[in-house]
Amino acid sequence: MEIKKNEEYIVNIIDYGMEGEGIAKIENFTVFIPNAMKGEKVKILIVKVLSSYAYGKLLEIIEQSPYRIESDCATYQRCGGCSLRHIDYEETLNIKQNMVQNLVSKTLNKNVKVKPTIGMGNPYHYRNKAQFPVGINKQNEKVVGVFAKRTHEIIPMQDCFLQNTMSQEIAFAIQKFIIEKDISVYNEETREGLLRHIVIKVGIRTHEIMCILVVNGNKIPYEQELVEMLVKRYNVKTVVKNINTKNTNVILGEENIVLHGDGYIYDILGDYTFKISPMSFYQVNPVQAEVLYNIAIEMANLSKEDILFDLYCGIGTIGIFASSYVKKVYGVEIVEQAIYDAKENARINQIENIEFIAGDVEKVLTNLIEKKQVYPDVVMVDPPRKGLDNTTINNILAVEPKKVVYISCNPATMVRDMKLLEEKYEVNEIQPVDMFPFTSHVECVAVLSLKELT
Ligand SMILES: C[S@@+](CC[C@H](N)C(=O)[O-])C[C@H]1O[C@@H](n2cnc3c(N)ncnc32)[C@H](O)[C@@H]1O
Repeated sequence: MEIKKNEEYIVNIIDYGMEGEGIAKIENFTVFIPNAMKGEKVKILIVKVLSSYAYGKLLEIIEQSPYRIESDCATYQRCGGCSLRHIDYEETLNIKQNMVQNLVSKTLNKNVKVKPTIGMGNPYHYRNKAQFPVGINKQNEKVVGVFAKRTHEIIPMQDCFLQNTMSQEIAFAIQKFIIEKDISVYNEETREGLLRHIVIKVGIRTHEIMCILVVNGNKIPYEQELVEMLVKRYNVKTVVKNINTKNTNVILGEENIVLHGDGYIYDILGDYTFKISPMSFYQVNPVQAEVLYNIAIEMANLSKEDILFDLYCGIGTIGIFASSYVKKVYGVEIVEQAIYDAKENARINQIENIEFIAGDVEKVLTNLIEKKQVYPDVVMVDPPRKGLDNTTINNILAVEPKKVVYISCNPATMVRDMKLLEEKYEVNEIQPVDMFPFTSHVECVAVLSLKELT
């Protein structure tokens, strides 16, 4: 049977896709249906047909999943932030576990049983970093909001359950200010207009706030008045103007001008204080970051004799958490500012057995091993979504640390890389952690140990 666009079908949802959408088969042809849930019988409209799969739109639920809930968000259907708000929270944790398990079972040689996802007690307003696009909506009004699903249309923000409430209040106040003062906003098509993004970082435990105004130009009209409003009304600790004149989807440009404060804030994770700059990576869910780091350290079973490599170390958080369990830590990170912060973080926390190196892991690792003859007992990697490069995988296979701890925000690339590491390593444990509740994303920690030679 040929699947046709604009035709209606009644289908059973048999599984979930990587973005939490329902999957149905029509005569063995895969159809992805956003908002449909496993176990449901639904009426769908086919909206797009590609060579090996199609997309359907949910028209009617004929048999409903017991885990379906009414979404609590007014913009859920249009916003691209969450994709699982129609599902009971506990069930979203099962879905994430199964998603990782499917990848593991399909790819790895060893049949590893993925552990149940560790969820949050309170999975609301967990993000400490908000990035609000600024632009013109369809009604030609200036808006600060969120991007609509898979588009760059900005829809006005309402009460978002992922973002920190303070960052939303500040963004609303800036929106009011730019409308009152008639400050221009960026238009992606013409590449004209000033304000592009508002980025707000909050230290959840210190309550320190950084506000970054991303602009296509140099001078913000009424700049001093805007800064004063942010400082007086919201006790913002630092305000930074970030210049981004490029035609790009990357939010931050390279130049930062500090308008108020020192250009950084602090936050506390576990027993440690961390300095956070505009350009450095810091986990967006600090409550779960603490859980993640502690699990990674526990699973690594570190010893006081160990040399630990913390690769893709950001501002040094994992290495600093692990430092008291090992002899020495080497942290490697490509963003210079993050390494500057990492060194400062080691100093603030009085950690002496840690060394941070700025550079590409691919090159620094080779250099550490070949030139400096430093050999790790344990390697922790926490790469960006694209995962590890082949040189790094080959370096790890060549130096044979006894353990590799793989922390990942993308299980697909993590499993792909672990398959290559299986040449010499056995995957022992995989623990998903719900770092991004109500989105389809999941963080994992996996531990691999060097196979005994027989
Ligand atoms: C997922 S973050 C992890 C940061 C840190 N481990 C943490 O928990 O906060 C990945 C980090 O890798 C860095 N990075 C990306 N590509 C890199 C590369 N080729 N070499 C070194 N670091 C890189 C990014 O700048 C980012 O700080």
